[in-house]
Amino acid sequence: MVTREAILDALRPVQDPEVHKSIVELGMVRNVEITGDHANVEVVLTISGCPLRNKIDSDVREALGTVAGLKSFDLKLGTMTDEERSKFRSVLRGGVPEDQAVTPALLAPDTQTQFVAVASGKGGVGKSTVTANLAVALARQGYRVGIIDADIYGFSIPGIFGIGDKKPTVIDNLLLPVVAHGVKIISMHFFVPDNRPVIWRGPMLGKMLRNFFAEVHWGDIDVLLLDMPPGTGDMALDIHQLLPKSKELIVTTPQQNATEVAARVGTMALQTQHQILGVVENMSFFEHKGEKHYIFGKGGGERLALELKTELLSQIPLGVAQESGDGIYAPETPQGLAYAHLAKTVGRQLEIGATTGK
Ligand SMILES: Nc1ncnc2c1ncn2[C@@H]1O[C@H](COP(=O)(O)OP(=O)(O)OP(=O)(O)O)[C@@H](O)[C@H]1O
Ligand SMILES: [Mg+2]
Repeated sequence: MVTREAILDALRPVQDPEVHKSIVELGMVRNVEITGDHANVEVVLTISGCPLRNKIDSDVREALGTVAGLKSFDLKLGTMTDEERSKFRSVLRGGVPEDQAVTPALLAPDTQTQFVAVASGKGGVGKSTVTANLAVALARQGYRVGIIDADIYGFSIPGIFGIGDKKPTVIDNLLLPVVAHGVKIISMHFFVPDNRPVIWRGPMLGKMLRNFFAEVHWGDIDVLLLDMPPGTGDMALDIHQLLPKSKELIVTTPQQNATEVAARVGTMALQTQHQILGVVENMSFFEHKGEKHYIFGKGGGERLALELKTELLSQIPLGVAQESGDGIYAPETPQGLAYAHLAKTVGRQLEIGATTGK
């Protein structure tokens, strides 16, 4: 005899293609009625114009086809009521009802996610490039990785990933990050019409940063990189308030004055008491016919690491300008190899296991 349980068991492995959770768990199976060996099944979608309607429809039909003894079925796709949608969102938020003031799961004291802020003493040394490429290298090694582009005014992460025309999917007020090269990305870029300048100041910055946690469904991630704005200002303090356990990666170039950079970064690290993971020296040398040319001088990264009493983790070679739209280096390029090595070191330092296969 066909039972409701048997049908729900068959439907349980079917996932909402966007949020990757079971449609049964998300409360999307509204109704199952059985008459003999026939079933009427009603599945509800978050919004009526759900772009993934066909995918859900065919996945559900396929799953129903596997129920032993079920000879025929009628499948109806409907739209959620406000109440159902609220349950859906509460499942996404880890079961916390919306009307309670919630600490987003990522910000809870027992969060399993590691935070790394990528900072520098000065602008233009390659923080965003390093953030993007390190994130991709970590993802290539099986880590679940996200990036928050914390450079609210000067966002450049979407440009580096070539996803400037993408928008996060919105389910009511909950945003799904844009995914590129296996990395989940949120940036102010996605919320600014026509690249108009952003003029929020002071407290708004912290609020925006908080929204990037509270309003975004990150799912389970191992490491979240924060691309910091140039300088060591307000944002560093906001990040410290939200993420007291965040660690820092300092980017420099060979020609920067190590003592000067160390003084700035050191003050910031003191104020925030963040652990510094190490220094990344970017644009270290240009390699031509197997020979390294130190165009911008030598030793800046090492001196800075010494000043900050930390380690020089990596020297990233200078690259020829990338084709527009994609600032992510392929794995086999000298830069790609350097980032793979850096990702291994950072992964080890954070003591997080890769989650390949999940
Ligand atoms: N290893 C490299 N080889 C060649 N060009 C590079 C390298 N790293 C970064 N660049 C280039 O240098 C410029 C500045 O890099 P990026 O935007 O990452 O720096 P930033 O520190 O984030 O800057 P800002 O302080 O403005 O946020 C970009 O045009 C980038 O493509
Ligand atoms: Mg930048």
